[in-house]
Amino acid sequence: MPFINERLMEQAESRPPPVTPGARASRFQFEPDQVMARLSARIVGQDPVLADLEAMLTRIKADISDPERPLAVHLFVGPTGVGKTETVRLLAEALHGRADALCRVDMNTLAQEHYAAALIGAPPGYVGSKEGHTLLDEERLRGTFRKPGVVLFDEIEKADVRVIRALMNVLDHGRLALSAGTRELDFRNSLIFMTSNLGAREAQTRLARYRRGWRRWLALRPTATERIPEQAVREYFDPEFINRIDRIHYFQPLDPQRADGLLEMELDRLADRLQRRDVSLSWQPAARSRFRAGQDIRYGARDLRRRLRNELEPKVAAAMFSHPDIHRFLVRTTGGTLEVVPVMETDPRDGLRHTT
Ligand SMILES: Nc1ncnc2c1ncn2[C@@H]1O[C@H](COP(=O)(O)OP(=O)(O)O)[C@@H](O)[C@H]1O
Ligand SMILES: [Mg+2]
Repeated sequence: MPFINERLMEQAESRPPPVTPGARASRFQFEPDQVMARLSARIVGQDPVLADLEAMLTRIKADISDPERPLAVHLFVGPTGVGKTETVRLLAEALHGRADALCRVDMNTLAQEHYAAALIGAPPGYVGSKEGHTLLDEERLRGTFRKPGVVLFDEIEKADVRVIRALMNVLDHGRLALSAGTRELDFRNSLIFMTSNLGAREAQTRLARYRRGWRRWLALRPTATERIPEQAVREYFDPEFINRIDRIHYFQPLDPQRADGLLEMELDRLADRLQRRDVSLSWQPAARSRFRAGQDIRYGARDLRRRLRNELEPKVAAAMFSHPDIHRFLVRTTGGTLEVVPVMETDPRDGLRHTT
């Protein structure tokens, strides 16, 4: 009975919000600080961006935004693997309490000539042009009375000019007319995010040069990594497009000092997955710093995850199968190679004992 359930939910949604004494009433049901706490726990090194997002959520919650525009329009610029997509994904998840709450359009994987058709629908009369069919998931982008929808146009610089033109209208009036002409998508209750890595390569090259050269101190200044992408964005997009964006955030490349926090975070997630198999992992400090040192920060966090998957997880898996009755394992290095060995029992001297 999905139909009835949906109707019931709709009714619940339009009921007046519960009144909490001492709190300002709002149709929106989310707590900006709680939402952001979830993000801070998972995204490292992008604190200024997160602080801005919290301010944005607070503004939305006050429900004082122009009702004829999207609730927010933000562009995230920065190199690959620094958390642009992940931030939006986590935000949608934290707001809606569901991992699949995000309406994401990946400009990169769409076939070039199908861009416009896939987004705004094929013109009437075309094969497959059903009643305004579109890539966009209407329910997710619209959100609900209590929660804003979250839309992500990922890697926007790959988009066809026709798509950008259609987007301009969305950013302006919060509406997108599908080409069948009978239907319109409504973005007025949406948070719109776009990402781009324009200028990232140039910034990275410049940064690497600074780090080596006598002007090393320049690499520490955020302007070194912001000015170049900023210029690239201004050269690439028309001023009319840029003018419709509330805020452009420049994501910082993940600097080596962050490697520790990132590794910590990824290892916590691995620990969660292992726990489901009733297995725990401890690290010999030397093994940990060795693993961390092998990280190529240029590829952001993706490189770390790939290395965990390729270099560590197979060893953990092999150890799990060779020692089916053991629940604790130790990661250590021997002659520079990472090893995963079972921990047999506790030794009072170092808290660990293992076979070799
Ligand atoms: N700043 C970060 N903090 C924590 N994890 C990150 C960060 N940046 C990237 N990651 C991890 O790396 C992966 C790729 O990040 P993603 O957001 O997709 O990169 P991009 O900036 O290219 O969109 C994600 O799965 C994410 O968990
Ligand atoms: Mg991305």
